[in-house]
Amino acid sequence: MGHNSMTRDAGNLSIDHDRLMESIDRFARIGATAGGGVTRLALTDEDKDARDLLAAELDAIDCQVLIDDLGNMRGVLDGQTALGAVQVASHLDTVIRGGRFDGALGVLGGLEVLRTIRDHGIQPARSIELINWTNEEGARFEPAMIGSGAALGTFDADWMRARSDVSGVRLGDELDRIGYAGSQRNRPPVGRAYLELHIEQGPVLDDAARPVGIVDGILGITWMNITLTGQAVHAGPTPMPDRHDALAAAAETVLAVRDIGTGAGSPCVGTVGRLEVSPNVINTIPGSVRLGADFRSPDDDGLDAMVADLAAHAHDIAARHGVAIEIDRFWTSSPVAFDSGVIEVIASACEAVGVQPVHLWSGAGHDARYAANVQPAGMIFVRSRGGVSHCEAELSDPEDIALGAAVLLHAALLLAEDGVSAANDRG
Ligand code: HGY
Ligand code: MN
Ligand code: MN
Repeated sequence: MGHNSMTRDAGNLSIDHDRLMESIDRFARIGATAGGGVTRLALTDEDKDARDLLAAELDAIDCQVLIDDLGNMRGVLDGQTALGAVQVASHLDTVIRGGRFDGALGVLGGLEVLRTIRDHGIQPARSIELINWTNEEGARFEPAMIGSGAALGTFDADWMRARSDVSGVRLGDELDRIGYAGSQRNRPPVGRAYLELHIEQGPVLDDAARPVGIVDGILGITWMNITLTGQAVHAGPTPMPDRHDALAAAAETVLAVRDIGTGAGSPCVGTVGRLEVSPNVINTIPGSVRLGADFRSPDDDGLDAMVADLAAHAHDIAARHGVAIEIDRFWTSSPVAFDSGVIEVIASACEAVGVQPVHLWSGAGHDARYAANVQPAGMIFVRSRGGVSHCEAELSDPEDIALGAAVLLHAALLLAEDGVSAANDRG
């Protein structure tokens, strides 16, 4: 690893922890919920306000702000060379009544890295770019990680713009409405490496009593829409044996997803998180139900086996209830192991900061998944107190956040120098 004077200087750099916590508090006020969480769904007015604030903060430290055609935002701190940039990234959108750290920690931790570099008047060898990805959560527009997936070659831009939310509002129209439909030429280029700071969102670091983790990879994810079609008839005069009750069949399907997730063994999981009933009135037997189901597994074969198992259960449930069941497997993100070189750099950064990391896999999906398709990528986790997330109780300690952001700073600076001095030496 080529170390020049700048990298040795990096050892003396430290983030401004109070400034970072103040930023987290400020962004958490955008979409704040009564229960202390945040609802900032992708491309809503709240998301626009957070984007506008991020753009202003980047402008304040003379980082050019570029918006691509998918709404992805990029703040560029110019380096000495045009060689591949180092990208620090995450997302500002949240789930409904989510926490203040999911996504925002990575974006604001990355902003703190740029601010710290500016404060010290350093120009890294490579540019360092901060990215805020559009619609990471998939909570409003399914599936998840659409902005990074489209920018990095997995999804088509027109397909992305055509996705609609439960009210039928199209993603592309919302992008236009909030003024964040930029230019395709501003899509993030392939860089030297990609780093994402994120809360763990699970119990591993808390159980291990450790503040920081090095992420070895991300589990595979597959999402399905399950449509059950029976017969909507009067709840009173219809004898029990004559019914085609879509909701009774759906109830058994929900339990089948749970049992399949349990039966596959940890870290596999199975969840039904979304349920729509029609006509959804108390005195009519439900005629149709639409479920949103999520399976996760460390390997693709495991995902396929879980879906096949569900199809077998569905066939049996359909026959017993006299309903039709259709499973639409509309999104799959294969498991990914992160780049060993980037993991090594993060480990060096942990050593420089003086923190003993835990290695772990991520059960949550992240934009780093798609970044890993095009460049060396890695993630740094910060402990989640109680191991919970996607809820208002989401909590990470300021001390842990400071350590995670310091590791991000040092890893970014190491990568910003890596290979450049050697390249320069070669002339
Ligand atoms: O679904 C996920 O794991 C992520 O929060 N989008
Ligand atoms: Mn996230
Ligand atoms: Mn999330």
